[in-house]
Amino acid sequence: MSRILVTGGTGYIGSHTTVELMQQGYDVTVVDNLSNSSVDVLDGIEAIVGKRPQFANVDCNDYNAMDKIFCTYPDIKAVIHFAASKAVGESVEKPLMYYRNNIGSLITLLEIMKQHDVRNIVFSSSCTVYGQPDDEHLPVGEDAPIQKALSPYGNTKQINEEIIRDEAHADSNLHAILLRYFNPIGAHPSALIGELPNGVPQNLLPFVTQTAAGLRKELKVFGDDYNTPDGSCIRDYIYVVDLAKAHVKAVERMLEGKADEQVEVFNLGTGRGLSVLEIVRTFIDVTGVNLPYQIVGRREGDIEQVWANPKKANEVLGWRAETPTRDILASAWKWQCHLAEKK
Ligand code: UD1
Repeated sequence: MSRILVTGGTGYIGSHTTVELMQQGYDVTVVDNLSNSSVDVLDGIEAIVGKRPQFANVDCNDYNAMDKIFCTYPDIKAVIHFAASKAVGESVEKPLMYYRNNIGSLITLLEIMKQHDVRNIVFSSSCTVYGQPDDEHLPVGEDAPIQKALSPYGNTKQINEEIIRDEAHADSNLHAILLRYFNPIGAHPSALIGELPNGVPQNLLPFVTQTAAGLRKELKVFGDDYNTPDGSCIRDYIYVVDLAKAHVKAVERMLEGKADEQVEVFNLGTGRGLSVLEIVRTFIDVTGVNLPYQIVGRREGDIEQVWANPKKANEVLGWRAETPTRDILASAWKWQCHLAEKK
């Protein structure tokens, strides 16, 4: 079976993808500098799969260390590149750190891949590249216009997509699939791996589960005066396990030489928009726990509403996000409870 290199493989989406790849029989080498994840995640992966992935504590910006990885594993057939800093607010405060981490690592990786003749890369991109689409582009298809990024983080995703396109243009052997994620949430059904935010969570779901667990006083719902049915923002919340499976499909597509274009783009979402208040109410309904919340003012930089048109991923990639929202929210709560037990 082929070996896949997963950068950022102990992170949230990386760990779930590593599980799905291994369960499909792939050999996986994980590299991660553990800057925003723990080495214990490997125990969770091993407990689920019954086998431990190869692991190296390496920063993707470290040319020599990365070169060594490719020398050690000459059977690497494709790379899935997750490793990146991802906090929107932090990126505004530390733009240089974001540009160095997120852009430097991709350049290093592409150089080393070329040197070792590894010609397939799946890149972890984001719906943030679309900004707030106008009405005619909702739900958002892959052809919706790219808009100026609202944060250095968002800009690194756009620049990285361009770097991949330019390199593919220069090198006809390079194949890439850019996966634009909507809002990944939830945890593995085993509750052995999940999202582990550092400090106070900025994203909705970890804040919801931590509040329900009594770790936070109350959830602040950022705005109920948007032009949406209940006034709160709308997003396309996609189950992280469904998202992980899309990566396996993308890798398969490349390795089987089925890609129609050298660089392909897929939006990964459910096609369904849910408001913040719908998430809150459904979470309370599913778990039966108390979730204190308060409506407060809008959060700067928030987009009013965005959800995916996943038709291309459904038809071309042969993938669909099918887990019901209730099951996803239950998995997030199960993971939170598991974390509390471990303490
Ligand atoms: C953001 C980024 C996205 C990035 C993602 C991953 C933007 C526009 N989008 O998505 O590029 O990939 O984070 O980290 O910056 N909310 C509350 N209370 C909270 C937290 C969130 O009401 O305590 C609301 C937000 O206003 C938003 C929704 O919940 O409407 C989702 O927020 P969040 O989970 O932070 O994701 P995005 O902002 O959509």
